[in-house]
Amino acid sequence: MRKPIIAGNWKMNKTMAETKDMITALKPLVAEADCDVVLCVPFTDLQTAKKAAKGSNVKIGAENVHWAEKGAFTGEVSADMLKELKVDYVIIGHSERRQYFGETDETVNKRVQAALNAKIKPIVCVGETEAEREGGLTEKVLERQIVEGLKGFKAKDFDKIVIAYEPVWAIGTGKTATATDANNTIGYIRHILAKKFHRSIAEKTRIQYGGSMNVKNCKELMAEEEIDGGLIGGASLKVDDFAYIVNYNK
Ligand code: 13P
Repeated sequence: MRKPIIAGNWKMNKTMAETKDMITALKPLVAEADCDVVLCVPFTDLQTAKKAAKGSNVKIGAENVHWAEKGAFTGEVSADMLKELKVDYVIIGHSERRQYFGETDETVNKRVQAALNAKIKPIVCVGETEAEREGGLTEKVLERQIVEGLKGFKAKDFDKIVIAYEPVWAIGTGKTATATDANNTIGYIRHILAKKFHRSIAEKTRIQYGGSMNVKNCKELMAEEEIDGGLIGGASLKVDDFAYIVNYNK
C-alpha cells in the first residue's frame, strides 16, 4: 500500500515571520492526518520552518537543490547544506524551473542523485505544457521526462522518490485536470515505470497530482486509485485550505 502524501509548494512566498505563524497554526489542524504532510518552502524559511514544525507530523522540504557537492555556483544550494538543516524532502524539476531557469531532464537526473546521496527524498515533477497536450504529445513528453530524469536509479531509490504529475496548463490557472484524466495520466506514468524500470517500481512509487488542487476538488482527486497525493501551490499558502486538503478523508 502506498501512503498518500500531501505536500505544499510555497514557491516564492512567505517571510520567516509568516512561516512561523503559518506552521504554528497548522500543526494542531493536521495532527491526525493519515497521509504524510510536507511543506516545501524557500531556502530562507527552512530553518524557521524546521523549528516551528518540531515535534509535529509536518515534514519540511526545499524547492530545489544543486547537483554539485560544492563550488563556484553563485546563488545555488547544495544537498549537504540541506542535509545539515535536516530537510526531509526537496522538489526537483518543477515546471517553473524548467520554464524560467533552464532545467532539463539531465539536470533533474543529477539533482535527484545529489538529493538521494544526502538522504533527502526528491519530489520529481513532470508534466506537459498546453501546446504539447494540444499537439498530442503528452505521453511522449512524460515518457522522456521519466526515462531521462530518473535514468540509472534502482528499486531501493524508488522507496524515496516521489513523482508529481503537474500538467503545466493546470498550474496556477484554476484549470484542473478532471479526476479521471489525472488518474489515467498517472496510470500511464506507472505504465512507463513498469516498462522502463520494473513492475514492482510502478506499484510502489508514490505519484501525486499537482495543478490547481484545492478544497473543492481534493476529495474527488484523492478518491482516484492511481493518485497518491497532491502537490499544492496556491492553496498551501492558506492554513485552513491546506489543513482541509490534508484531512481530505475525514
Ligand atoms: P497551484 O496549486 O497554485 O496550481 O500550483 C501547483 C504547483 O505548481 C505545485 O507545485
